[in-house]
Amino acid sequence: MRRLRRENLRSLFRESRLRIEDLIVPIFVDETAKGKREIPSMPGYYRLPIEEVAKEIGECMDLGLKAFIFFGIPKKKDEVGSEAFNNDGVVQKAVRIAKKEFPDSVVITDVCLCEYTSHGHCGIVKNGRILNDETLPILGKIAISHAKAGADIVAPSGMMDGMVKSIRVALDGEGFSEVAIMSYSAKFASNFYSPFREAAESGYKFGDRKTYQMDFHNSDEALREIELDINEGADIVMVKPALAYLDVIRRAKERFLVPLTAYNVSGEYSMVKSAIEKGWLSEEIVYEILVAIKRAGADLIITYHAKEVAEHL
Ligand code: PBG
Repeated sequence: MRRLRRENLRSLFRESRLRIEDLIVPIFVDETAKGKREIPSMPGYYRLPIEEVAKEIGECMDLGLKAFIFFGIPKKKDEVGSEAFNNDGVVQKAVRIAKKEFPDSVVITDVCLCEYTSHGHCGIVKNGRILNDETLPILGKIAISHAKAGADIVAPSGMMDGMVKSIRVALDGEGFSEVAIMSYSAKFASNFYSPFREAAESGYKFGDRKTYQMDFHNSDEALREIELDINEGADIVMVKPALAYLDVIRRAKERFLVPLTAYNVSGEYSMVKSAIEKGWLSEEIVYEILVAIKRAGADLIITYHAKEVAEHL
């Protein structure tokens, strides 16, 4: 077996490859921020005021990164997350700028309520319960406002049943049949999201997300979630988190012939970054991890490491 591992031959026989085009860059746009602000639990990652968005996207485009997923931190929150579907909201503004300055960029928007609701849940709340069907029309409104701003792809992340179909119908009804849907289909109720909740100020005031996000003991169920989303019209499906869920990524890839995204989430980033900062792990571990996610079967990866890896590639 060592014959093909010789220095000059080795790269010819690589089975998996990581391309810059496989990476999607998360962008946090903060309506309350004056300048660029580092996220304490995510060393090297920032929340950007709207005015900084074009510069950031430009830097990424120069590195060959062309796909972005936008998250917003609004000035005000309320019970129903009205800012999420405000045509002049923080994400809508950022998307307009991105598409105007960089028409070739691929703009994806996270469609969810948790950053916009006062209680921090991903759906409408009544008597301490998160309501499914009442939330769906709001998700449709958010998706339409993102499409109007110029989003290429909308990405519902709230794990409400029927969200993909509602959004598809809503978009088509407004003439946005070309806007694609990337669904966070198999999103687990995970401990790996806590740095994101600080980054996006989307922590919840009561309870947890276990009535809508998936139980991490299950992977058959993840396949059922993905199948439902495909049947409802998802163009791209997602498994999230990535690293502790490579088995789910692999099963999904073997079973479904649709593009599959893996989300290398905030906690995975923070874990690796802090160990690198301490000098306990080398930076090369980032590339190894992303290749592993590709090898498991992901087509695309959303990752906070995108810029550093693009430089390396
Ligand atoms: C919103 C959302 C979350 C993430 C992406 N979209 C957090 C959550 O469900 O609490 C997590 C991303 C990350 O941890 O990097 N529903």
